[in-house]
Amino acid sequence: MKTFRILAAGLAGLAFAGLAHAAGGAKHPHGPEAGWPFEGVTGQYDKASVQRGYQVYKQVCSSCHGMKLLSYRNLGEPGGPFYDPAYPNPNDNPFVKALAAENEVMNAEPNEAGEYEFRPAMPADRFRSPFPNDAAARAANGGALPPDLSVMVKARHYGADYIYSLMTGYPDFSLYEDLITEENGETIYQTVIDMSKFEKLGSYKPDHGPAYLIQPAGQYYNPYMAGDTTPNFQGDPRHRPPGGFLAMGPQLPDGRVEYTDGTEATTSQMAYDVAQFLAWAAEPKLEARKRTGLGTMVFLLILSTLLWFSYKQIWRKVEH
Ligand code: HEC
Repeated sequence: MKTFRILAAGLAGLAFAGLAHAAGGAKHPHGPEAGWPFEGVTGQYDKASVQRGYQVYKQVCSSCHGMKLLSYRNLGEPGGPFYDPAYPNPNDNPFVKALAAENEVMNAEPNEAGEYEFRPAMPADRFRSPFPNDAAARAANGGALPPDLSVMVKARHYGADYIYSLMTGYPDFSLYEDLITEENGETIYQTVIDMSKFEKLGSYKPDHGPAYLIQPAGQYYNPYMAGDTTPNFQGDPRHRPPGGFLAMGPQLPDGRVEYTDGTEATTSQMAYDVAQFLAWAAEPKLEARKRTGLGTMVFLLILSTLLWFSYKQIWRKVEH
């Protein structure tokens, strides 16, 4: 009886925790409609997409976010987006060399005059960091630190789905309005979003009344960001929009990059590609891991069958 009570209490506790979680918080992230090519037992990265994702990272994200755990040579290793079987050693791959050389890095050793010089990066160099240190990164981003993206896909729940949702989830630019009010003779300028026009939200209907969400200075609303919008919402608090604010604005308006392979650079295409690139970066050996796993399973299956028949054979004459 006692065990039963403890069990029941535990279950009730879990149920409440679940409810509490569902009440506040961010919108559940979703991936692209067709899913990711790297999912499932045999899933692999779409190489062309990872290549485009590197382009998006390089041309957009890398001005704020570093990827310290990656070297340029990783791009040319087996399973990497620019792997070429003709160059088993990526340090010799001319394309990888050229990609690296597009970045300037600081020499680790000072020259004879004691100065640190910049030089084009080599495949062996780590990805260039946009800022010399965290303090400089914060200073350039209104106090917020753009996190390193090397293993971001592993660091957030729902990984690539989350990146994809976050990048595509910002309200359309046309929904931002300037709200100018007077308080004690002072004019206050604020940016607001009319939530009743934000279709992607779903939970907020126009008949829920006026629906201004005030953006704090230097912050941007995103339904997938963890947080609480209650203090900034002028409508009925029961219908407050999900999500929160972050110091990163929308990064991928249509046409933000011009893809070298001619793919049309829509917001969702760029988000798809950069999320897949970040998924590869966080787990570059996924394909090798899956191959080994599958091979091991097949081997074990054959071994089990053989063992079963030898067992039958050996114990054939024994009564048991
Ligand atoms: C202008 C600078 C800037 C650019 C460009 C930029 N970001 Fe950010 N990003 C930030 C800052 C600042 C934060 C921290 C926001 C905060 O914590 O409020 C951030 C946070 C993030 C986060 C973490 C969100 C979380 O859950 O905490 C992700 C993921 C991210 N950025 C991805 C990207 C991607 C992908 C790109 C390129 C398409 C990109 N960013 C481009 C400045 C930038």
